[in-house]
Amino acid sequence: MDEKKERKKTQTLERQKVLGIPVYEETLSVVGKREPRVDARDKVTGRLQYGADIEYPGCLIGKMVRSPYPHARIKRIDTSKAALLPGVRAVLTAGDIPGKNNIGPLVADQPAICDDRVRYIGDAVALVAAESEEMADRAVELIEVDYELLPAVFSVADALKPDAPKIHEKGNLLLTGKIRKGNVEKGFKEADVVLERTYTVPFQDHASMEPEVIWAVPHPDGTMTIQGPMQTPFGVRKTVASVLGIPFNKVQCVQTPLGGGFGGKEDSPLDLGSRAALLALKTGQPVKIEFAREETTLTTSKRHPMTITCKIGAKRDGTFTAFEGTLYNEQGAYASVGALIPPSSGVHIHAISVLSGPYVIPNVKVDGYLVYTNNPYGGAMRGFGAPQANFAHESLIDELAEKMAADPYELRIKNAFELGSETATGQILDHSVGLKDAMEKARTTFDWQRRKGSPPDPDQLQHSDKSRGVGMSIGWYKTGLGAYANGYGVNLYLLEDGSAILSQGLVEMGQGLFTVLAQMAAEALGIRPEDVRVIAPDTNKAPDSGPTVASRSTTVAGMAILDAAKQIRDPLFQSASEILAVPVERLDAKDRLIYDRDDPSRCVELKEAALRTWRTGRRMMGQGWWNPPVSSFDLETGQGSPHFVYSYSAQMAEVEVDLKTGEVKVIQMVSAYDVGKAINPTTLEGQIEGGIAMGLGYALMEEIIVKEGMIQNLTLQNYSIPTVLDMPDMVPLYVEHPNRYGPFGAKGIAEMANIPVAAAITNAVANAIGARIYDLPAKPERVYTTLRQRFDKGFCQ
Ligand code: MTE
Ligand code: MOS
Repeated sequence: MDEKKERKKTQTLERQKVLGIPVYEETLSVVGKREPRVDARDKVTGRLQYGADIEYPGCLIGKMVRSPYPHARIKRIDTSKAALLPGVRAVLTAGDIPGKNNIGPLVADQPAICDDRVRYIGDAVALVAAESEEMADRAVELIEVDYELLPAVFSVADALKPDAPKIHEKGNLLLTGKIRKGNVEKGFKEADVVLERTYTVPFQDHASMEPEVIWAVPHPDGTMTIQGPMQTPFGVRKTVASVLGIPFNKVQCVQTPLGGGFGGKEDSPLDLGSRAALLALKTGQPVKIEFAREETTLTTSKRHPMTITCKIGAKRDGTFTAFEGTLYNEQGAYASVGALIPPSSGVHIHAISVLSGPYVIPNVKVDGYLVYTNNPYGGAMRGFGAPQANFAHESLIDELAEKMAADPYELRIKNAFELGSETATGQILDHSVGLKDAMEKARTTFDWQRRKGSPPDPDQLQHSDKSRGVGMSIGWYKTGLGAYANGYGVNLYLLEDGSAILSQGLVEMGQGLFTVLAQMAAEALGIRPEDVRVIAPDTNKAPDSGPTVASRSTTVAGMAILDAAKQIRDPLFQSASEILAVPVERLDAKDRLIYDRDDPSRCVELKEAALRTWRTGRRMMGQGWWNPPVSSFDLETGQGSPHFVYSYSAQMAEVEVDLKTGEVKVIQMVSAYDVGKAINPTTLEGQIEGGIAMGLGYALMEEIIVKEGMIQNLTLQNYSIPTVLDMPDMVPLYVEHPNRYGPFGAKGIAEMANIPVAAAITNAVANAIGARIYDLPAKPERVYTTLRQRFDKGFCQ
């Protein structure tokens, strides 16, 4: 055993040497440890103040008049009755906007207040600010809007018809996207087996615990503070400034703790923030806009629904020869982050670039269409198009294995990425590819060989109540935006008592970021995590750190923190060297001590050296900046290196299907990840378990139902998400293949944790009932119907 471990270690060290990655393992004292979360105590005791807990004296309540129609022209708005109502301080329509009336994170195609047209049910046509919620509601009711109804489109197929009504000026096709690698015709000819299938996935809601809330506080000098939960404080600054028509430096965005973002709070604060700011500017008073659950569900972005057709070819020995995919992606009314930030980011392009899965396939052709409709709009949601793509390729590969009578594990590992593999976009994966290692770890822990069953016997199924099955999936996901403006800045201050303050712009939204930031800063400075105070992002105080999205935070922040800490360590070690009479080169710092590496008993307390640094007027502050390696992606061929590193995963699930009701119970999930380096294994496991919950919901129950543009399930009573009773036994696992561009070797994991879960579960369902689910979610009626059809058709292949 020990010998095996030793060998593995030598191999790892060798690999690191080859790649030029520093070996940290032996010297780390804070990173890699199960440090408690810095925000835990305040959260569990209820002491933490969320956005809705804040009070401003004399504040007004802001509300929106919303369109009841999915597509209409605004003929007339009469606000006179509302404006006369006592307690109403402002009633605004599009004409009152001093700056630009268009917002949106990538393509500014959404009006802050609709002027001539509404494009979905919930679009805002007028704003009111009043002294109380009741008065604001009353004012909203008194505003008269005359609409001329326009023909609306509710499906991608209808929206693409030549005579379809145009939702936006340039037409309904917002974006295409392609991959062209090798020659798929030739590849399919070389194949012995070819399988083609179509899959659909619905709108999924973020269902964050905290609904949207925002404050706008105007100041006499013409500046404006926006406060609330937001994933993109710097994006909100830019949007609010543009809507108000003032320079960016006159808008300050201050973060309140997020009760869950999951991508949903990337663009919702742009709407709320700019609308609250307009009302605050007009009235000169602080304005709060707070959504009830129904308003959050009705008006904020969702996971994009897609219809995906995939075809795969394989040789008899299992080698994949070709992959072809067509992806219809429903954008809904506005572009949100579905569109493209060059060169390669946005939900649509990302879904295309990962559609053929983490497999080596020499010939790949993918076409994708991103299409406007008059439904609610798709936005960022944990995985940027990857969960949809993953469900498609992992269902397909699983069925291919069935068709070839191959072990789904063996078929996958034969084709899976490893160091040196070439992706569908032609990128050579030259570092940090631990997919096969993660697969192996999942396989042995789950005991796949023993548990994988043969297909169920139809006769037996007909007469049983329950059936169990196992299934697996693998997946991959980027770290970072894959686009311009991916840079990150941090200000790190060491104080003369040896404590530190970290000021930066990425947000804690439950993923554990502030804890890992404190750990990395503590490790880099030689102090303890409890000595580091991470302060809430404030755009007036922190350098632009970009958005808290794309699982980028640990990686980009860590690299910049190392840079900042170095600027402090040099003068600090100078001071210690003077105290200890030991040359600077021999000094190191750890656990609040600075010591002589040759003789660790010669040491000084770090705070003593900090005090000397301060007294001697040396530098006590570092500003770190990090910009990931630049991405490339050719939109015509889909070739390039869109991301500088990827994380990988393997999942194994066991389910039990109730054959009389179609209900699926997940018994166990074993989830293994290649994370580069686990900065904090406990927060990492938290992400893995949360990802299982979200993926389980996607697999079995979550679906925003839209009829004629109207969401039918606005509350959490009829939009089901998993509860603790639905959760399986979970076994989170990880392997560490260091990221050359990551702090201590780390890379992103937070979205990856959700991506491959659904397919593992639905593949296990297929194994349990001998029939496949092609449309998510696998809710009881769908599973039951699928099973009945199978019985009716008979089980023979
Ligand atoms: N985990 C919790 N608890 N709450 C969240 O809102 N958001 C997810 C993921 N995990 C989220 C979460 C999404 S969509 C992203 S992009 C990442 O966290 C961002 O975190 P990171 O950049 O620190 O990895
Ligand atoms: Mo996450 S979808 O990138 O906010």
